[in-house]
Amino acid sequence: MATPTMEKTAAKTDVSPYITVTFRVRRFNPELSDEAQWQDFQIEIDPKERVLDGLHKIKWDVDGSLTFRRSCAHGICGSDAMRINGKNRLACKTLIKDINPEKPITVEPIKGMTVLKDLVVDMEPFFQAYRDVMPFLITSGNEPTRERLQSAEDRERFDDTTKCILCAACTSSCPVFWNDGQYFGPAAIVNAHRFIFDSRDEAAEQRLEILNDKDGVWRCRTTFNCTDACPRGIEVTKAIAEVKRALITRRY
Ligand code: SF4
Ligand code: F3S
Ligand code: FES
Repeated sequence: MATPTMEKTAAKTDVSPYITVTFRVRRFNPELSDEAQWQDFQIEIDPKERVLDGLHKIKWDVDGSLTFRRSCAHGICGSDAMRINGKNRLACKTLIKDINPEKPITVEPIKGMTVLKDLVVDMEPFFQAYRDVMPFLITSGNEPTRERLQSAEDRERFDDTTKCILCAACTSSCPVFWNDGQYFGPAAIVNAHRFIFDSRDEAAEQRLEILNDKDGVWRCRTTFNCTDACPRGIEVTKAIAEVKRALITRRY
């Protein structure tokens, strides 16, 4: 005979956490069609799971051809930025319960970049802009015998922009970038900022001149989409304003 405790446990496990959720995914396969189209998938999922878990369920259980990038699944590698319900987010950091699962969840590739297949875009122009700002420490003179020292105050100066994971959520949410894709974009400027304001670096002038270009910082219209989109909470627009100010004052 079941004890009261056992009955209680059984009643608890009877309640399934699963709900039916519709994923409305923007599909594109250049081998099949020149046009992208929406496809709906209905899956059973715990709303405490993430959009990435939903995409995995679709890929592993329903349609193995669904194509998207992801690696770490924990908000570190930056590879799964996508437009979820019209907003740039990381699929691995977006809980289904937080985005109204009663309605279809739309999932699209990030904007302003060439779509290669489904949710995968060509990131090469994005990474070229990143490489163009020389995202590495440049120093002259002899190597120090120990570490290059820096005060806590100097380190704090660029702390925010060290957090970038190069996910492109900012650049692909910027209307100036959507316009022609020539603008360096907020991510490249954030990564230039990280070195311009590093007291150990000696190439700030070079980086500032690179960003003084017609496709550089002056194209930013202070729209703030980039700041809203950043999954790392970086104050992107503020960093861009600091680079603009450094260009005018030559103080950094
Ligand atoms: Fe992503 Fe933020 Fe870096 Fe932009 S600044 S690439 S949104 S982490
Ligand atoms: Fe674009 Fe951000 Fe400037 S969205 S216009 S880079 S403030
Ligand atoms: Fe690495 Fe989402 S999979 S950030």
